[in-house]
Amino acid sequence: TYRIEEPLLSDTLGLSSYRRRASNSNKGTFGHVLVAAGSRSMSGAGLLCSKAALRAGSGLVTWALPESLLDGMLGQIPEIMMRGMADEGRGDWGKISTQWILELAANKAAIVFGPGIGRFDNDTHWLRDIWEHTTCPLVLDADALNMLGTSIGLDALSRRSAPVILTPHPGEMARLCGKSIPEIQGDRIETARSFAWKFGVTLVLKGARTVVATPEGEIYINRTGNAGMATGGTGDVLAGIIAGLLAQGMSATQSAALGVYLHGSAGDRAASSRPYMASLIASDIIDQL
Ligand code: APR
Ligand code: MG
Repeated sequence: TYRIEEPLLSDTLGLSSYRRRASNSNKGTFGHVLVAAGSRSMSGAGLLCSKAALRAGSGLVTWALPESLLDGMLGQIPEIMMRGMADEGRGDWGKISTQWILELAANKAAIVFGPGIGRFDNDTHWLRDIWEHTTCPLVLDADALNMLGTSIGLDALSRRSAPVILTPHPGEMARLCGKSIPEIQGDRIETARSFAWKFGVTLVLKGARTVVATPEGEIYINRTGNAGMATGGTGDVLAGIIAGLLAQGMSATQSAALGVYLHGSAGDRAASSRPYMASLIASDIIDQL
């Protein structure tokens, strides 16, 4: 078990190489993230996730969202590209063809799927198609986690050759592994370790002292972050950061462990720049990255 601190990050997890950029690099050097996120009632999740991926250093970000949300979102983050997917005016993912996302995924270095997508009619089909027809590292968050068991099944997780990172909060973890929240919180390390080992994924069990568990059975415990971060949208920011690091070529372990550390330390800066941590909002974390 490792406690995530700066020497570990620098030596083993590549913080020092992340800080430097070759002077002749270009945006293609740092990867292109596809963010598949947001629906009518949670469109901000896609904005937060996309902007966090950019601030984490990815070269390009494309946000795929239901077409009827597109006009309202245009220009909110000038640096991202946006692709509306025909949704029959619903503002959710229910009538969108997975073909759209598979075309967009073709040249991407990482995909993050789930923040703010909500539940929708043909959800199981969605995750299965992304799973089977994409070859880059994949971050699954929020409702993508809730559809995992019924779409591809947990036993299929380890059969993907590219890395998979799951980012559940304790409630999502409870649904994933069929335990109660108190059981999970009572033994966060063992819950995360056994799941990651059994299903061959990198698991980020969120909350105070986030636990990162690798498929090899390693555990990293994060010491940054604060209770000001207990506010809607901070999880969407984390998913974007991790995808942004994956796109730059970091391993799943590096991206998850460094990602939770940077997310927490940006949250600590954001909290200390205000008189009370209660006023912290998710965008403040992005501003401090
Ligand atoms: N200390 C440190 N970090 C914390 C703390 C804390 N006390 N509380 C929360 N965090 C961090 C978590 O570690 C995680 O990285 O903030 C982030 C919260 O992520 P989520 O729980 O996924 O929250 P988010 O998705 O942004 O918003 C909550 O998710 O499940 C739904 O119903 C829920 O609508 C709500 C939304
Ligand atoms: Mg969340």
